[in-house]
Amino acid sequence: MPRYTLTINGKTQSVDAEADTPLLWVLRDELGLVGTKFGCGIAMCGACTVHLGGVALRSCSLPVAAVGNQAVTTIEGLADDGELHPLQETWIEQDVPQCGYCQAGQIMSAAALLASNPAPTDDDIDVAMAGNYCRCGTYNRIRSAIHSAAERMTASYYDATAKQTEQQA
Ligand code: FES
Ligand code: FES
Repeated sequence: MPRYTLTINGKTQSVDAEADTPLLWVLRDELGLVGTKFGCGIAMCGACTVHLGGVALRSCSLPVAAVGNQAVTTIEGLADDGELHPLQETWIEQDVPQCGYCQAGQIMSAAALLASNPAPTDDDIDVAMAGNYCRCGTYNRIRSAIHSAAERMTASYYDATAKQTEQQA
């Protein structure tokens, strides 16, 4: 069985797996990263969403052999040195989850959206999140939490820039 060396949440991990093993199985069964969920297994529900090289994709449909040297980020790696991602903060503050099953995938898709579009409109959010299903119907709260996180990220960017300008003055 081939051995793959993967970069997952900033750590190098080696796994033995058949080439066509979906990344999702490697994450959950080999590495114990069970925050990423199995829903449909056919790239239709979004529960298994992770980032590959910063892009949101469905880990249930990505063979481990296709990962290569691109960095994988899962929900377990989204916090920065113990500090929650603004999306995780607003998700908690706004009580977004109901059963919670779809929510790791929702947050990972939302994080990829905000990384490329810091001020998304409702339409941008609907397009970016269209492949993430929630049987509990938390869509309105998801949209609201994404807007709040976007505002928070923009505000902290301007705070940091202002501080830097002060220090340089
Ligand atoms: S489990 Fe991967 S998209 Fe549904
Ligand atoms: S919170 Fe239950 S499926 Fe989304």
